[in-house]
Amino acid sequence: MRLGVNIDHIAVLKAARKIGDPDVLQAVFVAAQNDADQITIHLREDRRHIDDYDAKRIVANSPIAVNMECAFETIDAVLKLRPFRATLVPEKREEVTTEGGLDVEGGFARVKRTIERLKEAEIAVSLFIEPNKAAVDLAQRGGADAIELHTGRFSNIWAALYGNLARTPYAANDLVALSVEDLQKELVAEISKIKKAALFARELGLQVAAGHGLNYHNAREIASIKEIEELNIGQSIVARSVWTGFAAAVREMSELVKNAR
Ligand code: PXP
Repeated sequence: MRLGVNIDHIAVLKAARKIGDPDVLQAVFVAAQNDADQITIHLREDRRHIDDYDAKRIVANSPIAVNMECAFETIDAVLKLRPFRATLVPEKREEVTTEGGLDVEGGFARVKRTIERLKEAEIAVSLFIEPNKAAVDLAQRGGADAIELHTGRFSNIWAALYGNLARTPYAANDLVALSVEDLQKELVAEISKIKKAALFARELGLQVAAGHGLNYHNAREIASIKEIEELNIGQSIVARSVWTGFAAAVREMSELVKNAR
């Protein structure tokens, strides 16, 4: 199991004051020294956290692979930066975080053309997709090297079942009305979807990653799926680092996901 540490939320802190503190490049080195295998950053169209200046420094100096999440709108910048891998994600300006996977079917021609452009620049390509066979199949037919399965719904169901989320203003609305029994069924069904999509992707020769909403409570469940080779985790690690320090937070997550099987 490989751990990709998403450091966007360190860049959020930096963007809060625009004085270069904390230095996101330092986060790259601390993550690498604490058993992270990859750095993940999301170059958003509005540059609300990672900006071009930091993206350039990270790609040029990171001792571990850089996986850059991007929407179609930021492809030209990614082609210039040439990270190890680009993960195509859908992006809406008004969203707080990436909601849902890429619509590979609706935008197939565009996805395929974008994959070709990235691969011509020797950038490996992953697609952030919902865990279903149709999306996996299209990812492979479009020429992707890898997929990342969106675990957002899994994480929301988990939080509704085992946390207090359903009783807060942050509840995922479609889950609020469900009974505990129904939530349990939903969780089993979602894990099964993730497992089936991962297995199918491996059968098609794709590398398989997963991520979104994973934390110190729920990540073990996804990390124990043997077809999944990589997890990209950000918010929970940076949140924990407020209390424990970033080095300890990365190390703890790394140990957790690597010992899950
Ligand atoms: N993977 C992808 C493709 C994402 O868009 C994100 C969020 O930026 C993550 C992983 C990390 O999600 P989280 O911050 O919830 O751990």
